[in-house]
This record gives sequence, structure tokens and C-alpha cells, in this order.
Amino acid sequence: MGHQTRATFGSKLSAVLVAAGGAVGLGNIWRFPYVAGENGGGAFLAIYILCAVIMGLPIMLAEFVIGRSSHSNAFGAFRHHSNLWKYMGFNCILTSFLIMGFYCVVAGWTIEYTVHSVASGIARSTLADEHAAYFSAFISNPWRPVLYTAAAMLLTHTVIALGVRKGIERCSRMLMPVLLIMLVVLAVRSLMMPGGFEGLRFFLYPDFSKVSARTLLVAIGQVFFSLSVGLGSMITYASYFKSDTDLRTTAVNVTVIDTLVAVLAGLVIFPAVFSVGIEPSAGSSLVFITLPSIFATMPLSTVWSTLFFLLLAVAALTSVISLHEVITACIHEEWHIRRRTAAWITTLSITVLGTAASLSLGLLDGWRIFGLTIFDALDFVTANILLPVSGMFSALFAGWVIKRTTFVDELTGRSMKYSRQAEVVRILLRYVCPIMLSLIFLDNLGLLNWL
Ligand code: PFF
Repeated sequence: MGHQTRATFGSKLSAVLVAAGGAVGLGNIWRFPYVAGENGGGAFLAIYILCAVIMGLPIMLAEFVIGRSSHSNAFGAFRHHSNLWKYMGFNCILTSFLIMGFYCVVAGWTIEYTVHSVASGIARSTLADEHAAYFSAFISNPWRPVLYTAAAMLLTHTVIALGVRKGIERCSRMLMPVLLIMLVVLAVRSLMMPGGFEGLRFFLYPDFSKVSARTLLVAIGQVFFSLSVGLGSMITYASYFKSDTDLRTTAVNVTVIDTLVAVLAGLVIFPAVFSVGIEPSAGSSLVFITLPSIFATMPLSTVWSTLFFLLLAVAALTSVISLHEVITACIHEEWHIRRRTAAWITTLSITVLGTAASLSLGLLDGWRIFGLTIFDALDFVTANILLPVSGMFSALFAGWVIKRTTFVDELTGRSMKYSRQAEVVRILLRYVCPIMLSLIFLDNLGLLNWL
């Protein structure tokens, strides 16, 4: 496909907002605050930022270079530079498919909770036990979460089918500022709660006694998931960047926005949780059980809970859109079929996988893969195996396979002034990132438990 006919994003700001939309997601809003709080608060934040700079940012730059230099979907991008490495592109597509399989289910939950909030369902009880009962009845119901998964996929489909400019770009330009405003409003509200300061302390006080070698590995894993690197979504988006879009400032902006959203999410969650004297719990129960019971105690509870779940839904949807585009662009360009048809193939196949993942939390609980439900197996395989592996290959590919001149030219816009910086990034990609990623991988396989 000649790149004259290929769509591009209209402006530099769009490039940042679209890529930030892909990066900012459930990982920032419910995972980061908890992981940080448990792993030394402010100390974890410092380590996280360090990992984002020496690993997340270079790999994002690598993916930007791979994508823009090839003007192609993830599969075609690897093939463009090396026929041997094209199978890496296949890994990207597979990983996106499997991540979407469970991510779209959770995106569906966020939509249901937005509706539940609007209907004042959350305001009805301040008892965590009642919210726990509601949540477990909902996710194990044979059809309701499936319908919401399908709704999330249909919304995503609509955006993708509208195209790169009219769909993805317009949607990100509209939703990202809304997301940031909602987040700031909620953070201010939460910080104003009596006793909220204790939560701030739990989240940000640097407790170095909780820092160990494992903390570094946890931070690397979180950086990776949060910045959406390692599965071709940044490659695909960068393939729509204009030739004068500065890859360095775009990547820095996306990394800063992503980190800022994670920190703001902590400022929403912890002051609220601590103000009612609850010990923070992990992941889904924090967001779908603990927080609803807190919202219910607040004046105007329906407003706050609606705002919060809408925020989660927006964050989740822009991420699902980025994953969908990885697959749709690949099917469209590699099989030479219409974009709309490609989008339908993606939507329908993911909906089938998402349905299986959703049902595995209820009706199909007996279907286990190595002892895990389908939902947990998808999460486990992607986060612990496929993401680190494909991130490592992206780093190795950009560091060793792409020609040095191509790499430096793409990154610097052919300005000699920045060629030093480009060389530093190349060294990080060639040596530092692969070594750090090997550590994550060994850790995930349980081989570093002695640390
Ligand atoms: N970065 C997203 C989050 O933090 O929730 C998750 C994600 C989305 C990972 C898209 C990878 C991806 F391609």
C-alpha cells in the first residue's frame, strides 16, 4: 500500500493525544496507585519514573521509528525492515488480540457501572458487603456482562470504522481533555475529604524499607503495561504520524501525560479510601466495591460515582480503540480488504473471545487453562509472557536491525544537533532494555524468587 494513500493524523497535538489515549487506561487508574502504595509510595514513584525514562521512553521511541519509517501496520512494519523479523509482527497482532479479550470485558464493566451510577444504584448503600454482592452477581451473570462487553466493542467499532482521522483522531481529541478535567475535579474532591491526608501519605511518602530488587521489576512491568509498549499499538499509531511530527517530543509528552494521570488517579483513590478508614484492597475490588461504598457516603454521591466510572470507561475505551486498530490495520493492509470489513472481522472475533472470558467468571468457571479461568489466563499470558517478550524484540529490532542512519534520521528529523541523543537511545535499546527485560521475564517465570 503506497503511503500517499495512507491516512495521517492532522496535527502534532493530535499525534500526542491519540498516543496518550492508547497509553492511558485501566492500568493507570486502578493498578498504578495500588502498586505504588504497596511498594514504598514515593520511593516507588521515583523508581517508576526512572524506569519510564530509561526503558519505557526508549522503547516507545523504537516503536515510533519502526512505525513511521515503514508507514505500515505492525506486521508490515517489521517486514519492511527485515523479512526474517516479520514474525515479530505476528506476535504483536496475537498479543493485541489476547489482551483485548479480557480488557474489553472490563471496559464493559465500566460502562455498566456508569449506567448503575446514573440510575443512583451506587448511592443506595454505604455497605461494602452489598456492593461486593452486587459486583460478584453482575460479573458471574450469564448475559449482562456479555451484553456490556458487546456494547464496548460496538462503540470501539464505530470509532474504528469512521477511520483514522474522523474516528480515532477526533475521538481522542475530544475525550482526552475531558478525561483530564474529570480526573482533576475528582482529585480535588477527594483531597478535600476529612482525613484524606493519611491517604496522600500512604501513596506518596517515600518508604525505602519497602524497596527491594523486586520493586524494580514491578516498576518495569507497570511502566510497560501502562505505556502500551511491546504490542504494536505505538507502531501502528506512529505509522499515521506526519513526516514532520517530532518523535522525541511526542514520546516525552505521552510519557509525561501517562505518568501524570497515574499520579492523579492515586490522588483520587487514596484520600477517599483513607478518609473512611478502610485498608486499600487490590485491583477490581478496590474500584468496584470499596469506592462505590465510599461514594455512597458523599453528598451528591450519584454525581461523583458517575464521574468516576465515566472516567474509567473513557480511559478503557481509548485503549481498546488502540488495540483494535493494531489488528484492523493489519487485516486491511495485509489481506487487501476494505477497512470496514477488516474492522468487522476484528470486532466479531474479539467479541467471541471476550464472551468466553466473561462467561469464565460464572457459567464457564469449570473451563480451566493450567488452573486459571479463561479471563485470568489471558491476563497472565499477555502481561507475564507475551508483552515482555515482544517489548524485548522491539528494542532489539530497533537497536540492531534497523539501519543506524534510518534510526538517527527518523529520531532527529535529520538535524545533527540531536544526533548524540539518538545515539544514547540506541545504546539503551541495544543493551540496557534487553537486559532489563530479560530480568522481568526471568522474574515472571519465578526464576528470581531468591531476590
Ligand atoms: N496502557 C493501557 C493501560 O494502562 O491500561 C493498557 C494497554 C492498552 C496496553 C493498549 C497495551 C495496549 F496496546
